[in-house]
Amino acid sequence: MTSPQTRMTRELGIALPIIGGAMYPCSNPELIAAVSAAGGIGVVQPVSLTFVHGHDFREGLRYIRRLTDRPIGMNALIESSSRIYRERMEKWIDIALEEGVRFFVTSLGNPRWVVQRVEPTGARVYHDVTERKWADKALAGGVHGLIAVNSRAGGHAGPKPAGQLFDELAPLGLPIVCAGGIGEPADLVEALSIGYDGVQLGTRFIATTECTASDAYKRAIVEADADDIVLSERITGVPLAVIRTPYIERVGTKAGSIARWMLRGRRTRHWMRSFYAVRSAIQLRKASLDPKATQDFWQAGKSVAGIDAVKPVAQVMREFADALTP
Ligand SMILES: Cc1cc2nc3c(=O)[nH]c(=O)nc-3n(C[C@H](O)[C@H](O)[C@H](O)COP(=O)(O)O)c2cc1C
Repeated sequence: MTSPQTRMTRELGIALPIIGGAMYPCSNPELIAAVSAAGGIGVVQPVSLTFVHGHDFREGLRYIRRLTDRPIGMNALIESSSRIYRERMEKWIDIALEEGVRFFVTSLGNPRWVVQRVEPTGARVYHDVTERKWADKALAGGVHGLIAVNSRAGGHAGPKPAGQLFDELAPLGLPIVCAGGIGEPADLVEALSIGYDGVQLGTRFIATTECTASDAYKRAIVEADADDIVLSERITGVPLAVIRTPYIERVGTKAGSIARWMLRGRRTRHWMRSFYAVRSAIQLRKASLDPKATQDFWQAGKSVAGIDAVKPVAQVMREFADALTP
């Protein structure tokens, strides 16, 4: 039997080595709270909490606190050439610290400034990486752990399988979390036996009763197989894992020729990325929540293979826990 206690669970003060990964637009407060209440740690996605689910950021955190007093985390997407976005993120991080959040998952960019800001409170920063060169940079920035995003992940998947990525990152000596492909308890057991300190799940938690995504989206996850997951550049400009629906088949998965040309240009790239960020935020919000949405951009990873029913979070977590305890 594999022990549920790892370096990650000890650092974060949680019972199970399971992170409910941040998901734009699917991270609603009730879902985050349910993952934490069941012994894992739910991660808040600030844009999802405010823009999609309509909470003032601080009030949203307090609402989650009323649902559970267990630890929660916050996702900070830190790559941005926009000063306004950076200032907004700094404010969100400060509010999160004031509200007692002590776990931060950083994505893209250099996490050094986040580490410097939160470390004095004893908070931990784990950084999303898809290959060794980003991990080296994160280590130099002082992070406390790595989230290894592999080629089976939902969201922006990495290029490498879980085993290969672990071998590349293990020599750095930090706790490493496996993100991607964990749909059923056997996947968790396998990740821990590779040597991972924990797992980060996204897709599995969309197909739960607490997630407020539309029933059509949840059904599509339950029915999909790994082969139904394709990478599309049309939504955010970089490959995003989505379910191959009739809509995706019709519009294709490659960015249009003008968009591609603009993404290549040094001056136009920034403009095009900003355009994609705003447009995709609106499109994904509509496609995920609106039961009548016809443009079916449904993000999901290859973990769909192990997901066979919509269940309450507590049941999902109990099944994972049962696979670890004798
Ligand atoms: C719908 C969806 C939205 C996501 N949004 C984000 C995000 O905003 N920030 C982030 O760091 N990761 C995001 N991810 C990645 C997840 O946090 C997690 O790493 C990933 O889903 C793990 O793969 P799995 O879906 O196979 O479990 C998203 C994933 C999905 C499925």
